[in-house]
Amino acid sequence: MLPEMTHTDPIAPTSADPRRQAARARLDRLWAAGTSFLGTDVAILGGAMSWISERHLVSAISNAGGFGVLACGAMEPARLAEEIAATQALTRRPFGVNLITMHPQLDDLVRVCLDAGVGHVVLAGGIPSGPVIRAIKDGGARVIAFAPAFVLAKRLVRMGVDALVIEGSEAGGHVGPVSLTVLAQEVLPFIRNIPVFVAGGLGRGDAIVSYLEQGAAGAQLGTRFAASTDSIAHERFKKAFIRANARDAVTSVQLDERFPVIPVRGLFNEGSRRFLRHQAETLRRFQSGELTKEEAQLDIEHFWAGSLRRAVIDGDVENGSVMAGQSVGMISSEQSVREIIDELVNQAVDALIRQEDRMHRE
Ligand SMILES: Cc1cc2nc3c(=O)[nH]c(=O)nc-3n(C[C@H](O)[C@H](O)[C@H](O)COP(=O)(O)O)c2cc1C
Repeated sequence: MLPEMTHTDPIAPTSADPRRQAARARLDRLWAAGTSFLGTDVAILGGAMSWISERHLVSAISNAGGFGVLACGAMEPARLAEEIAATQALTRRPFGVNLITMHPQLDDLVRVCLDAGVGHVVLAGGIPSGPVIRAIKDGGARVIAFAPAFVLAKRLVRMGVDALVIEGSEAGGHVGPVSLTVLAQEVLPFIRNIPVFVAGGLGRGDAIVSYLEQGAAGAQLGTRFAASTDSIAHERFKKAFIRANARDAVTSVQLDERFPVIPVRGLFNEGSRRFLRHQAETLRRFQSGELTKEEAQLDIEHFWAGSLRRAVIDGDVENGSVMAGQSVGMISSEQSVREIIDELVNQAVDALIRQEDRMHRE
């Protein structure tokens, strides 16, 4: 029996207009390293988002010609195997699985991916170990890793990863300190032997073209897909995205340098206010001797436990963690994944046509 399919026909050519066709062909050449590495029509990845990047969103992105990535998050191996099988039942196209390197059962999760024939494993949440990279490659899959700085990019290339994602601090979720504008200049001219995908704050096709021209192989977006009709996120979560401006997606604030807070970008809400008060109160209890330094640090780290689920699934956008990139300001309605991808491609094509026009004027 054939697996249940949604929409699997390849992306239609953007138009019969020869100028558009030529520009589309140019776009296809610009991101050829990305599309051939991913096995897709367009080099657009749907970045893994915990609770959001499950079978429906991931298969929708892959069926629309992009590359969906399942978020394993804290799933157990059996649960991941189930989610991969369910995604494979919805698409015959390639998709990846994002594993968090500090997961206690990482080796088993890698085995689950390899046994299921997953072609690309994305390793997130820290620098992966050499043996994990080798195990994935020996099992026949490709490794994609995050490089938050140029030195780490070089190290990951030496360790044998097959592709990199450079994610700027504009992105939603856990972020590094450097913007994509700077990271791209630091990395793209120098890493030419493997595909490098850019992420963070991307909302339009014109911007994607500008990074392709700097040498990127493609782009990864999260926030725009989180608010799509194919996303299982709660309606209140999506409405919050539609309402928000870029400036509303801020990184978590650390009150005291002795107690580090992992920077997470999301919409500022009542939970963010309570987190500030919680840090101040924890600091007071530490200073009065009521808590040890370790206890105080754990107290701060545990504040957001379970809060992404609370926002995404329960729709509590006031107290939960509404992770979002600055690209949230470019969302004005709930669109399907296919509409988003078509729009990005059309904007990229328009940008290339405008560029041609400018060159002919000179
Ligand atoms: C709600 C949300 C949850 C995310 N969760 C994860 C995650 O579990 N693992 C991961 O590697 N990246 C995660 N990200 C980052 C995305 O994969 C992607 O790189 C990022 O969203 C790109 O920036 P953008 O949001 O501006 O498009 C998350 C992002 C968002 C918005």
